[in-house]
Amino acid sequence: MAENPIPFYTHGFTMAPMAGVTDSAFRRICIQLGATCLVTEMVTAAGLSRKSVKTKSMLKFHQDEKPIGVQLFGAKPEDFARASALVSPLGFSFIDINAGCPVKRVLRSGSGSALLGDIPRLLEIVRVTKQNTDLPVTVKIRLGLTRENPVPDNIGELVAEAGACALAVHGRFRTDFFAGEADRKRMKQISELSPLPVIANGDSTSVEAALKLRDDTGSTGLLVGRGAWGNPWIFRGLNGGNPHPEPGELHDTIMNQLLMMMEYIPSPQVFHIFRGHLVQYFRGFYGAAEIRNRAVRTQSLREVDMLAAEADIAMHTAVEE
Ligand SMILES: Cc1cc2nc3c(=O)[nH]c(=O)nc-3n(C[C@H](O)[C@H](O)[C@H](O)COP(=O)(O)O)c2cc1C
Repeated sequence: MAENPIPFYTHGFTMAPMAGVTDSAFRRICIQLGATCLVTEMVTAAGLSRKSVKTKSMLKFHQDEKPIGVQLFGAKPEDFARASALVSPLGFSFIDINAGCPVKRVLRSGSGSALLGDIPRLLEIVRVTKQNTDLPVTVKIRLGLTRENPVPDNIGELVAEAGACALAVHGRFRTDFFAGEADRKRMKQISELSPLPVIANGDSTSVEAALKLRDDTGSTGLLVGRGAWGNPWIFRGLNGGNPHPEPGELHDTIMNQLLMMMEYIPSPQVFHIFRGHLVQYFRGFYGAAEIRNRAVRTQSLREVDMLAAEADIAMHTAVEE
């Protein structure tokens, strides 16, 4: 069997692609804290194929972000052909094909999880992507469009024949969006029949939950999504370290991320975007709700600095019952 070219993805702890969340700054934070691999937010293959400047800017990454895969979404094989040729020389470690996005607008265009309702087209997309790149190609799926229309149990075999070398499975159907629990039984069926390594995804809310998901489903690796948003320390925990911030670390991490983001997003826009991260960071400690209320009004570096310092102290202060 050929050597596995991407063990950091197939057998590691990867920050799941999240549009609007996993930009360069947040990805750098995740890799510093132990993520073994990163993936870009989903990038439109049609936009790349048209050479859209805005879409191409989504391909920018920092040298500290390696290894990183680029995720493409789209409906037409010819768009993937052009897009995969275009991204190939840019330094990515692999190309991931999005066959899971549940958003209506994406689905209507025939992209994302719509591909789960048209497996021949998904396989054609994998084939042409592979034909147009020397990079490894991976696929990220859900369990199907609807419960009545699940993906075939041997989906791993099918995408392998088409040229993929790994399969990530989010254990929900498109109709579930993010509700309910990941269906471990079906995930296990898929991984048992897969000749490819399977990366488990869904509900990695803690180190224990994530490792249990991987082991219960017979998967080799993990993709951690919402559980890492506002809590990138989960990656340190997965590597055996402290899964929570040490005193001072919440403040430092927030400022670090914001300063990196300011390298490529101008003020005041950067603060609008960063507020979404702040409210995730400010959770799970006494007084967090009140701090979140103030976080959504921050509009300067100094305000964020002071609030993050206050939150850091609150987080590490024991409260008498
Ligand atoms: C805000 C948001 C944006 C997302 N964007 C993407 C995306 O661009 N590409 C993708 O494959 N999945 C995307 N996802 C799905 C996640 O990668 C992941 O599959 C899902 O959140 C389940 O994992 P989790 O329970 O660990 O969060 C997104 C999810 C969220 C909440």
